[in-house]
Amino acid sequence: MMTANIAVRPSTPSEASQLAEIYVETWRTTYAGMLPDNVLLRMSVDQQTRRWRGYLDRPGARETVLTAEAVGQGAIGFGSAGPARRTGPQVGEVYTLYVLPDWQGQGAGRELMEALFSHLRTADFTEALIWVVAANPSRFFYEAMGGQRTVERIEPLWGVELAEIGYRWDLV
Ligand SMILES: CC(C)(COP(=O)(O)OP(=O)(O)OC[C@H]1O[C@@H](n2cnc3c(N)ncnc32)[C@H](O)[C@@H]1OP(=O)(O)O)[C@@H](O)C(=O)NCCC(=O)NCCS
Repeated sequence: MMTANIAVRPSTPSEASQLAEIYVETWRTTYAGMLPDNVLLRMSVDQQTRRWRGYLDRPGARETVLTAEAVGQGAIGFGSAGPARRTGPQVGEVYTLYVLPDWQGQGAGRELMEALFSHLRTADFTEALIWVVAANPSRFFYEAMGGQRTVERIEPLWGVELAEIGYRWDLV
């Protein structure tokens, strides 16, 4: 899978710290003003490295993690997907999708999403679901990618009531 100089491939346990750096940087830039400051301040690359290494070290894990790599630059984004957490067995979910701010708008998000959908299709899921914080302008990316806005929910997280929108895609 290639867009210009971006390629998507399965993530490896040895790059857990790079994924953790991407995660922390994109959370802080994306969710400033949407999530409490102390949640964003408390996040650490060490803690996220342990978390992502935990997923990547588990053979046969239900969660698949893919890295977007720019030639000569290493990892610039990543995403993960698996069974949807609160719906029927035929529904897959993209749990995470993050591209470093400097690399946004250059096709990496599309490449990652198409690769995650292709993985879900191979695993026999017939629909894909993504939850996005309603105030996150990235929801327009999901609309550009053909997602149907289907459901809304309020998640009580870190002492705030977070409005989220669920987008769905047919995979068949
Ligand atoms: C959302 C995100 C993953 C998209 O990845 P990206 O690499 O920036 O997006 P792409 O360059 O692949 O864009 C694909 C298409 O979506 C459109 N698009 C991307 N971001 C958009 C936005 N904020 N508003 C409207 N359209 C957008 C692009 O114009 C492009 O359309 P085109 O192919 O017709 O030109 C990335 O911007 C990101 O990591 N954002 C911050 C973290 C985040 O919010 N993640 C989602 C959590 S649920």
